[in-house]
Amino acid sequence: MNTKKNKLLIYGATGYTGKIIAARAKELNLDFEIAAREEGKTSALAKELNVPFHVFNVEDDKGWQKALADKCVLINAAGPFQFTAKQAMNACLRAGVHYLDISAELETYQLAESLDKEAKSAGIQLISGAGLFVSYDALAVHLSKLVAEPQELKVGFRHYGGFSKGSILSSKNIADLGILVRKNGEIIENPNPQSKVFSFGNEAIECLPTPLGGIVLTYKSIRIPNIEEYFSLKLPTIDMPELTAQNLPDGPSEEERASGRNGLSAEMRGKNGKVVKAYIDAPSGYALTPLSVVAVANRIFNNDFKIGYQSPGSAYGEEILNDIPDLYLYDL
Ligand SMILES: NC(=O)c1ccc[n+]([C@@H]2O[C@H](COP(=O)([O-])OP(=O)(O)OC[C@H]3O[C@@H](n4cnc5c(N)ncnc54)[C@H](OP(=O)(O)O)[C@@H]3O)[C@@H](O)[C@H]2O)c1
Repeated sequence: MNTKKNKLLIYGATGYTGKIIAARAKELNLDFEIAAREEGKTSALAKELNVPFHVFNVEDDKGWQKALADKCVLINAAGPFQFTAKQAMNACLRAGVHYLDISAELETYQLAESLDKEAKSAGIQLISGAGLFVSYDALAVHLSKLVAEPQELKVGFRHYGGFSKGSILSSKNIADLGILVRKNGEIIENPNPQSKVFSFGNEAIECLPTPLGGIVLTYKSIRIPNIEEYFSLKLPTIDMPELTAQNLPDGPSEEERASGRNGLSAEMRGKNGKVVKAYIDAPSGYALTPLSVVAVANRIFNNDFKIGYQSPGSAYGEEILNDIPDLYLYDL
């Protein structure tokens, strides 16, 4: 068991989402420190939050060692995660610190999956995708209790509030994988992708087939053999020539985040053909992810974790929904 003090490190805290995560940790009065690779931005944010800070590059083993020495949990908010997750996970394995990130990239989920044995030996919980997937997975776990032998899951995600620079840079990595689904237990490219209408309470929206990550994470949570995912928008990419990392917007303002809602709608079919449906009405994306990942960190502080590779659902089931404010689950 991890006996370290209940102290959190947020790496990539100077990013758009990292800052909101840090603000949530502050709001909950958690004992935390921040870290990022650039001195000026990091020290300015640390001053604003009145917390200690560390400046080091993701490749810097000594930097990790020092920053993680007295920590219980890391939240890695530095994306695209294809460039940071491996280094941060390895640092946590060496230091015996629980690992969380907010990745939306399938490959980092698979990386975490491949490190199961190492995480068990280190006595840590390793979750990649503890942002949006906390409620997504909880919804799937909820439905899995309502049918016998769940066979097929279809999930629609209604996003509100535009995209951050980090999401746009990372989503190219997701879009490049193609339209993946889980079919009979295997991840394959969907041979015939079609849009599908999902109900979000009093609104029905046509969503586009898009791999969101449940094909790895929710499969871990409930072992359902068939999973299809849909998104209310086309994934943003930087294919548009006028957009570069330098001129992308940081992300939606606080007012924009507060002016709309995210929705997750899911239907599940059991072996006998019975279909059950439910949806979640939640704060918009860049508000929901910080609330979710900090809720998981808080669970770990309260000694609620499972060692090894976990998904949000395998570690916390649907009960974690109670820890996320302003979020509602409705059976349809
Ligand atoms: N699924 C979800 O729930 C969800 C929700 C929101 C965001 N996300 C993901 O979270 C990630 C961050 O998004 P964001 O909006 O916060 O982006 P952002 O504003 O661009 O911030 C990215 C942060 O990561 C740091 N960073 C990037 N590459 C790095 C590297 N190679 N080494 C060290 N630090 C690095 C940046 O440092 P500098 O400031 O020094 O560049 C910055 O602190 C994206 O991958 C996004 O897709 C996921």
